[in-house]
Amino acid sequence: MTSGDRLAGKVALITGGARGQGAAEAKLFGGHGATVVITDVLTEEGERTAGELGCEFLPHDVASEQQWKEVVAEITDRHGKLDVLVNNAGILHAARLVNTRTEDWDRVIAINQTGVFLGMRTVAPVMVERGSGSIVNISSVAGLEGVFGSMAYTASKFAVRGMTKVAAKELGPAGVRVNSVHPGLIDTDMTTDFPKEQMLKTVPIGREADASEVANLVLFLASDEAGYCTGQEFVVDGGMHG
Ligand SMILES: NC(=O)c1ccc[n+]([C@@H]2O[C@H](COP(=O)([O-])OP(=O)(O)OC[C@H]3O[C@@H](n4cnc5c(N)ncnc54)[C@H](O)[C@@H]3O)[C@@H](O)[C@H]2O)c1
Repeated sequence: MTSGDRLAGKVALITGGARGQGAAEAKLFGGHGATVVITDVLTEEGERTAGELGCEFLPHDVASEQQWKEVVAEITDRHGKLDVLVNNAGILHAARLVNTRTEDWDRVIAINQTGVFLGMRTVAPVMVERGSGSIVNISSVAGLEGVFGSMAYTASKFAVRGMTKVAAKELGPAGVRVNSVHPGLIDTDMTTDFPKEQMLKTVPIGREADASEVANLVLFLASDEAGYCTGQEFVVDGGMHG
């Protein structure tokens, strides 16, 4: 269902929402009654997407501690609370172990891993104070198994899965749930240059997913319907990781 009231009254922050999966989540969340704020380093694209979807946009580099403080302060000033954080922003880096340059490693870890850590750490006090909240961290099948030729990316996505479990244990008693989502091959700009033919042979459903198919799962985890789910990994990969 693309519209309804499953997030009625909730305020949601989706990072990396200018395009791709983040934009699909913003569209679905908005259709279900949430006030949605998307953030991204792509300012023009972010503003355009927000205009099309009727949500709000804030420029934001998730690797910056200072910008996290500013973004969360701005949202709580405007809306008085923050119910949902989707840590969706991420970059792909394809390189084998021996070809992974330290600067590329540092960049991938800063965005995909430290960005998720900073996001959870910044919103946790806001959610704990209200005694409720849902954090959804977008990992990958590369957070469940070693993917050949993606050393830094796989490291960062395994870290997201681990951090999710720690945060769930620490924040659960305060009513805040934290889960990770593990997409397989999703049709977005990230995978445009990806050698998909070979990978599709390992997908029982035999096709890549539309971003909306990930958004449906993220909507469930963001909503109160998932009230007893925390610290878990939720896979949306057409059966790839079996
Ligand atoms: N596409 C896939 O097949 C696939 C599979 C598994 C996991 N994922 C994960 O899903 C998430 C969404 O990716 P997507 O498929 O929509 O790709 P995408 O490249 O279309 O979207 C990623 C977004 O993150 C933004 N971003 C990058 N660095 C940022 C930063 N430092 N601060 C803020 N925003 C930043 C980008 O500008 C972009 O808008 C990512 O975490 C990605 O790793 C994607």
